[in-house]
Amino acid sequence: MKVGVIMGGTSSERGVSLKTGAEMLRGLEQAKYEAVPVVVDRRENLADQVRGLDFALLALHGAFGEDGTVQAVLETLGIPYSGSGMLSSAICMDKDMTKRLLRASGIPTADWLCLEKIGEYSAEAASKLGFPLIVKPSAGGSSIGMSKVKKPEELYPAVAEAFRQEQPVMLEAFVKGMELTCSILDGEVLPILQIVPNHAEWFDYNAKYSAGGAMEEVADLPPELESRVKETALACWRALKCGVYARVDVIVSDGVPYVLEVNTLPGMTSASLLPKSAKAAGLTFSGLLDTIISLSLK
Ligand code: DAL
Ligand code: MG
Repeated sequence: MKVGVIMGGTSSERGVSLKTGAEMLRGLEQAKYEAVPVVVDRRENLADQVRGLDFALLALHGAFGEDGTVQAVLETLGIPYSGSGMLSSAICMDKDMTKRLLRASGIPTADWLCLEKIGEYSAEAASKLGFPLIVKPSAGGSSIGMSKVKKPEELYPAVAEAFRQEQPVMLEAFVKGMELTCSILDGEVLPILQIVPNHAEWFDYNAKYSAGGAMEEVADLPPELESRVKETALACWRALKCGVYARVDVIVSDGVPYVLEVNTLPGMTSASLLPKSAKAAGLTFSGLLDTIISLSLK
């Protein structure tokens, strides 16, 4: 079976995607697939680049990759691909839509507001969220363009910086607590990891991808809290119609897991969380890829 590892892309997470792709190619070498790298540089070229593949293993992150657009092209060409379908991908890439659906499903998530254009910014409306607050592109990833704002005077520059990356921009109340991540494979939660950034105040880009940037260990949670976190992650999976695999990021405060976001194509770099979680469940990286491919073909 000829598996194309679709990587690169045009989003701000291109660098992370190339690392995910390299790791996937290494992992596939040990499995029974003929693996070919497909590095995407331009949207216009994608259809020609993927013709002739038996399967597309998506190593893309962010817009044009994680947001349903590439999935739509592959559907049109009749090429099976890994992970969630178009609808779920599109919803989960948009944090505003994600949070609206979470709220509608009774799943805890912090208060937020979304600005389509910088002209919609109002210091008064933003301040109602309280300080500190988080500013980030609504459809970004890997903490690119994200700031933690502690004082009113830092707010506008942070919003302007996020708009330089992508629009719309989201402002979200900061939840202080324990950061956890729940990797889900085929509707089952893998061991939950706790994230403690080593130097940064929050889990920023460097903490995510530099060696030693963060301590990520299997969380030792009281059973009741563990069940609650798992139930919350699975409720997100169902509400957002995810498939095959995903990663749900939460912050627990006063025993309540507040959902930050759901990643339909979570990072698979050597520093990434889902492979660590799978490893803790006894699944090797190539075993994980094999499972993802088999489940996606079902
Ligand atoms: N957006 C990055 C790739 C992640 O969630 O792992
Ligand atoms: Mg993300």
